[in-house]
Amino acid sequence: MVLHRQISRRDVLRAVLVSGAALAVPSLALAEQCRETPRQDEGPFYLNGFDRTRPVVHNNDLTVVPGATGKPDGEIIQVTGRVTDEECRPVKGAMVEIWQANARGRYTHVADPNPAPKDPNFLGFGEATTDADGKYSFKTIKPGAYPVPGGWVRPPHIHFKVYGGFFNMMVTQMYFAGEKYNRDDILLSSISKAERQRLIVEPMRPAGSSTENLYVFNVALKPFRARS
Ligand SMILES: [Fe+2]
Repeated sequence: MVLHRQISRRDVLRAVLVSGAALAVPSLALAEQCRETPRQDEGPFYLNGFDRTRPVVHNNDLTVVPGATGKPDGEIIQVTGRVTDEECRPVKGAMVEIWQANARGRYTHVADPNPAPKDPNFLGFGEATTDADGKYSFKTIKPGAYPVPGGWVRPPHIHFKVYGGFFNMMVTQMYFAGEKYNRDDILLSSISKAERQRLIVEPMRPAGSSTENLYVFNVALKPFRARS
C-alpha cells in the first residue's frame, strides 16, 4: 500500500517560493544567503545603559524624539530587510532591535566616553516587529565613526539584536559600503571575506527617490536546538 502524505497549502507555497528563488539565484548562493547571519559583538552600548533622561520610545523611527522640535544631524536613511530561517522562510513576529551612534559618533548611553556632542533630536534606539513576510523597516540616520581606546576607530555601523520564536538570538552589526575604516576594523577583520560581504551593505535608491539612502539588510536565524 502506498501512503500519500497530505500536501498542505504551506507545502505548496514553500515549493513555489523555493522554485521561484532558485530561478533568481543559484541554489548554492541561496543556501549561503540564508545561512545564519555572521555574528558580531554586542558592544557596551546596548539599551540597558540607555540615558534615562531621554525617552525610550518603542517604535521604528529614530528621527523623532518626543518633546524635541528639530531634526537629527546627518543623512536620513531607511534600513529594511527580511528575517528568515535557514531555509529562507520568513520569520513572522520577530523582534528587531537596533541601536547606533549619532552622526558624530556618540551613543545615547551613559557609559559612552566619546566627548562628541549628543544629538537631542536623535533617539539612538529603535525596535520593530517583522510582518508575515518577515519584513522590518527603520527610519534613522547614517551613524558616524567613533574612536575606541587603543587608537582604533570603529567604522559607521548599526547594532542589531533579533529574537523570537524557536530561534537562537542573533546579535550582529550592519556596516556601510565604501567606508574607509571598514578595512582595518578589528571586529570586521575577525570574520571571513564572504561573511563581511553579508554585513557590509551598499546603498540603493528607493522607488521615486533621487537619493541612494535605502539599505537592505537581511537577517537569517538558526533554529534553537536544545542540548541533548
Ligand atoms: Fe558600536
